[in-house]
Amino acid sequence: MTAPVSVTLENVASYSEWRTAARRLLAAGVAPERVGFRLASTSADLFGSGPADVAAGTSNKGQVIRVPKEFPALARDVLCHNDDSRFALLYRLLWRVKDVPQLLDNRADVDVYAARRLAKSVRRDSHKMKAFVRFRRVESDAGEAFVAWFEPEHHIVERTAPFFSRRFSGMRWSIVTPARSAHWDGHALTYGDGANRRDCPDGDALENYWRVYYSSIFNPARLKLNAMRSEMPVKYWRNLPESRLIPELSRSAQRAQRAAPAGAAPCLVTAQKLVAEQPGMVTQTMAEPKTLPDLTTSLQQCARCELCETATAAVPGEGAADARLMLVGEQPGDEEDLVGRPFVGPAGKVLLEALQEAGIERESVYLTNAVKHFKFKPRGKRRIHQRPNATEIETCRWWLDFERDIVAPRVTLALGATAARATLGHPVKVMDVRGQAFTSDTGDVVLVTVHPSYLLRLPDRAAAHEQRLQFIDDLRRAEALATSVPA
Ligand code: URA
Repeated sequence: MTAPVSVTLENVASYSEWRTAARRLLAAGVAPERVGFRLASTSADLFGSGPADVAAGTSNKGQVIRVPKEFPALARDVLCHNDDSRFALLYRLLWRVKDVPQLLDNRADVDVYAARRLAKSVRRDSHKMKAFVRFRRVESDAGEAFVAWFEPEHHIVERTAPFFSRRFSGMRWSIVTPARSAHWDGHALTYGDGANRRDCPDGDALENYWRVYYSSIFNPARLKLNAMRSEMPVKYWRNLPESRLIPELSRSAQRAQRAAPAGAAPCLVTAQKLVAEQPGMVTQTMAEPKTLPDLTTSLQQCARCELCETATAAVPGEGAADARLMLVGEQPGDEEDLVGRPFVGPAGKVLLEALQEAGIERESVYLTNAVKHFKFKPRGKRRIHQRPNATEIETCRWWLDFERDIVAPRVTLALGATAARATLGHPVKVMDVRGQAFTSDTGDVVLVTVHPSYLLRLPDRAAAHEQRLQFIDDLRRAEALATSVPA
């Protein structure tokens, strides 16, 4: 009998609920074509009409279902998408993957491609939420709290809120969206229904902070409204206090430019004057770059941490702006710091030779570092390399994230522990994860290998030779993956 089967789900994005239903369907041998998924909150049946509920009379006892390691993570992301077909798509994939375990590696497969596309869109939405949520301070009977309004595209509140509880663990906050809200009381995360934008506070000291912060970094010469709109959808602008400064800053900039002598360099005077008029505000500057040349220019003004005080200059990445493969190192070394280019010293020589042996042209990849300033301790006339610490890595991710957004590589190869931490967002042991493929928030696949300087430090020649061959293999693998992953 091939009667249609209807599955009603209570939650829009719950992996465990979907998995329970999918296991029952599999155990009952229900083919994907017969299944319709429906959300309890909507009246629409995503399949058709009149079917029986699968939960009745079926059991998954004793059934062992093996899926590739990657499947649960992919499914979790896909389920957060707002596309109604996501439940059926995942069940179709599950049905097929049990017979063809390598299916997920076939990125040209229609279902695999569709699932990866949905997952990527969810990760990007989550990334945007992390970047564009702005809290406003409110006073309540319980004391100070912070509230932010955000309008995500997908069902990402539960997926993304833990990021904020880690980052703002010491304050009480709520993030409110039209569909869901997340609340942190300093100890536990809870979730509730969504709300209306009108319910969120507007205009306060924190908002002022953001505005002043933005005006301090504002460089009128770089104001490209169209580019800004394409990078940051206007719907997010409404929630960014700093965006309200743009018209006034831009008018002042035009006035200043008309008054300036021909050929005068663009400057930040107007913005800094605005900042000076706001007492007690930070003036640290960071322009949000939209292109690599913008990024290179803005980077030279970076004072986000103390490394800028001793290094000669920040070293930007270099290479193809549309590279499919990005290589991320640790930080510029002594020579890189003086020359202003990445990987021109001894470790760079090892890397370039390995690239050549792997058959990869240097010009085809994008080479950069997790930390942009050289960290060292002076010893006599020498400058001794120091590893960047967790705060420095995290602070400098501001730049690396922009590089990854602009270049949009398909694969990022992290060279060593610092680069792995910066690209994955958490620490890992390089030798434990070498060879694994991670999917990142920015949409690329991340692979991890050793840093080329590790090869220089190995005392044993045979071991060094062995490691070097493995390193070349890692480069080849990254290149092959970058060529096979669809854009
Ligand atoms: N080591 C790195 O990680 N990056 C460089 O640019 C040079 C050495």
